[in-house]
Amino acid sequence: MSTTEKGGVQADAGASASSPPATVLVIHGPNLNLLGHREPEIYGRTRLADIDRSLKQLGRELGIKVDTFQSNSEGAIVDRIQRARGRARALVINPAAYTHTSVAIRDAITACDLPAIEVHLSNVYSREPFRHQSTIAGIVVGRIMGFGAEGYLLALRAAKRLIDIGAQRAAAGGA
Ligand code: DQA
Repeated sequence: MSTTEKGGVQADAGASASSPPATVLVIHGPNLNLLGHREPEIYGRTRLADIDRSLKQLGRELGIKVDTFQSNSEGAIVDRIQRARGRARALVINPAAYTHTSVAIRDAITACDLPAIEVHLSNVYSREPFRHQSTIAGIVVGRIMGFGAEGYLLALRAAKRLIDIGAQRAAAGGA
């Protein structure tokens, strides 16, 4: 929290002298380690390491800490979400192919009570029908898709906004 010049209270997600910066966890699902090489006509030519670097840079600008994680394994993703419980303030997740199948990832997000934003590089609705189904669509705050790597940065800005709103509510004595 910080005080504005006019004496108002402004919630901020970033570092202050007394509090560490809020953490946003970004999770990339299976095969996203191959970004840049994998079907570039669909997913673009940006590599995952470049996306993660851009996210951390934007995080510094926004005053939030960004932790990134990629796994090809559903269980490892569930474990990582559980570890974020009580630590991260928001989750940005592209579950990749698990989007369309994983009840376990959906349950982990719900169990950890983390506001989540779903990201897809491609517009899944312009693709095969089996990609139109998302197990997490109903439990995330919002979904961003079709903007390629830029979608992660849009999601991080949205996560920052969610954290700020949460801080403002907490300051006002709300939930
Ligand atoms: C994806 C879309 C999924 O259908 C696919 O399995 C992926 C990537 C995307 O970012 O567009 O691996 O999540």
